[in-house]
Amino acid sequence: MTDVKEKILELKKERDAAILAHYYVPGEVQEIADQVGDSYYLSVIASQIKEKVILFCGVSFMAESVKIMNPDKTVLMPDTGAECPMVRMVSADDIKKVRDRYKDLAVVCYINSTSEVKAHSDVCVTSSNALKVVRSMPEKNIFFIPDENLGRYVASETPGKNFIFNDGFCSVHADIKREDVVKLKAEHPSAKVAAHPECREEIRDLSDYVGSTSGIIDYVEKSCSEEFIVCTERGIFHKLAKRAAGKKLYSPALCTLCTSMKKNTTENLLNALMYPGHEITVDKQLALKAVRPLQKMLRLAQSE
Ligand code: 13P
Ligand code: SF4
Repeated sequence: MTDVKEKILELKKERDAAILAHYYVPGEVQEIADQVGDSYYLSVIASQIKEKVILFCGVSFMAESVKIMNPDKTVLMPDTGAECPMVRMVSADDIKKVRDRYKDLAVVCYINSTSEVKAHSDVCVTSSNALKVVRSMPEKNIFFIPDENLGRYVASETPGKNFIFNDGFCSVHADIKREDVVKLKAEHPSAKVAAHPECREEIRDLSDYVGSTSGIIDYVEKSCSEEFIVCTERGIFHKLAKRAAGKKLYSPALCTLCTSMKKNTTENLLNALMYPGHEITVDKQLALKAVRPLQKMLRLAQSE
């Protein structure tokens, strides 16, 4: 065990902390974490943590959501500047404008959003529960924010509703190119294609499976196929190497790396346990409003 890892485990115990990590953070951090998962799993599990401190290794919207749902816990991040750029691609003002235009409207907000935007939304979703949650909304009109690609995927699977899209995107997924996937398919004709719904429609159209990070891991693990073209951030390969050991995995582009997720280094993790300046806070009044769409998501996602 390295000195850094040893020190982290020692301080974790001393500070009564649990470490949660997303599949996109560096492999060595996933190894130290008590729980690793997709954004939905992590938001559910965070409510069941007994420890006083949650050290969240991911991006800030995820840590803020954990803080909103667990106001009495101390939530820390290895690097509080690890932000998902998509969260800035829609504003409360954009929501107001659409609310003024439609009466029978639900504002469905991807969890990749600011606390303020959540506070103005009717329900949150993650990529693993978006279909189920949207299908259970009674409203005819759905303003899906901020990610247009996920919104269009949900719309394609939810006939009978009128979707209004926002032009937000994740550059990591939106930059995956059709020609790169086509080339890999030609090189590996028996490979199945698994894609995250943040990918563009032209990638989803080439895919055998579309789902969240944990959905992709389950699919690759359980599928009888031996080769996969994996269209999402490459951090997921760390878990896949264990859960689908021996299977061949191909990444369509070298650029499928989320620089924000990679700020979660073991050194930063250790700093978060040692020094101030790593705590996530959310204004109390804002949190009281933002918690409602998050709780509604959990209720609808867990319903029969
Ligand atoms: P998941 O919900 O699949 O964990 O995805 C989160 C994310 O940020 C994808 O880019
Ligand atoms: Fe945001 Fe994309 Fe990074 Fe996910 S992969 S955190 S959506 S920038």
